[in-house]
Amino acid sequence: MPRGTYYFPDGFLWGTATAAHQVEGRNQNNTWYAWEQEEGRIAEGHQSGLACDWWGGRWREDFDRAAKTGQNAHRLSIAWSRIQPAPDRWDESALDRYREMLIGLRERKLIPMVTLHHFSEPLWVAEMGGWENEDVPELFGRFVEKAVDALMPYCDLWVTINEPNVFAFSAYVDGVFPPGKKDLKVALIVLQNLVRAHARAYHIIHDRQPQARVGIAAHYRGFKPATWLPPDRWIANVFHTLFNDLFPRTLHDGVFNTIYKRYRIPEAAGTQDFLGLNYYTSDLVRFDLLAPSKVFAHRTYPEDALLSESGFIAHQPSGMMACVKWGGQYGLPLIVTENGVEDSDDTLRPRYILEHLHALWQIMNGNYRVEGYFHWSLVDNFEWERGWTQRFGLWGLDVETQARIRRPSADMFAEICRKNGISTAIVEKYAPEALQVLFP
Ligand code: FCB
Repeated sequence: MPRGTYYFPDGFLWGTATAAHQVEGRNQNNTWYAWEQEEGRIAEGHQSGLACDWWGGRWREDFDRAAKTGQNAHRLSIAWSRIQPAPDRWDESALDRYREMLIGLRERKLIPMVTLHHFSEPLWVAEMGGWENEDVPELFGRFVEKAVDALMPYCDLWVTINEPNVFAFSAYVDGVFPPGKKDLKVALIVLQNLVRAHARAYHIIHDRQPQARVGIAAHYRGFKPATWLPPDRWIANVFHTLFNDLFPRTLHDGVFNTIYKRYRIPEAAGTQDFLGLNYYTSDLVRFDLLAPSKVFAHRTYPEDALLSESGFIAHQPSGMMACVKWGGQYGLPLIVTENGVEDSDDTLRPRYILEHLHALWQIMNGNYRVEGYFHWSLVDNFEWERGWTQRFGLWGLDVETQARIRRPSADMFAEICRKNGISTAIVEKYAPEALQVLFP
């Protein structure tokens, strides 16, 4: 067996990603809090509650954990609902709190990346029709002005919208995120308004902070046809085009092309300084005429795939390479803004991380410029409609006591960050089952 180290480029960003509603706790003025109060919306009736109690100050100990384990960056989000609790009211104390958090990151030598929209809005926005309402991009712009004015001394790396495709699909097609609609046409309207909101935010940030780097965190899901049959190939391609490609392509050329219809959004053209990539897994797709509510697709995981604890994610590291290849076509620097697996006893996570980073390393050597990797997530947090049933943290969380439980993956990730690479010894120590993949 050969021995060695897969090194990443100097200055590579190593961090974890989090989102306001998932970690802050007591976030009661937004769409997700209201959703949690409705019966049957969240698995096992779970609620975000205190979450990881970051609003109560426990971000300090978690940032310490990140810094002490060799990370040099952190991606978090700020909550619009806290900063603008009502249309005519700004909460300066919320901005102070976020300012303190960003200073806290800087003091620990963690480069902040701030997301401006990560799946939740203020209730007053929902009351006016949420992202279906074409006035919302402008209102979002006002929030961005306020937030960026306050926080730009501490941050110049911004994600405008997290996973617009997952958000629109889950909230307006699958109906599992608020407002729980099931209408593809509405989802396409929402996506166009999100494009406008992104474009507005991009220009607002650059007007104030010319050196800023602004992008989105795009969720890429692999869609492979289940067979060679043309209908399966066609539907897999439709999913790739509409789910993965539509949003970033519109930000590239200013044309929102739904295959059947094209809408021009010229202000969106060229509004990305980098492309953030969230990659978790890939599907096999079969055309299914009897499933109009599932957009005529039957999606499964390969029978032999290793599955995460609840079956939510299939371990398919080759999809990471496909993801980077796809993202690379836009000619922008790339940053992996999320990647991870739910695994409360940490049996799959070490292998999952190693094989995904190995895939990333391989494709980067094909001359793709990837500047960093943010693991989802630092500590177990509230997983949306799946509540606390899924555990994505390098540290576990006891929701009752707020105790953090260090998983072996935290130590492994620390060794990788410190070495800026993956050595044979790391693989032997944490996931010998991956040796055959990394060091055959
Ligand atoms: C992504 C979300 C993130 C988290 C992970 C597991 O789709 O962006 O908030 O829930 O999935």
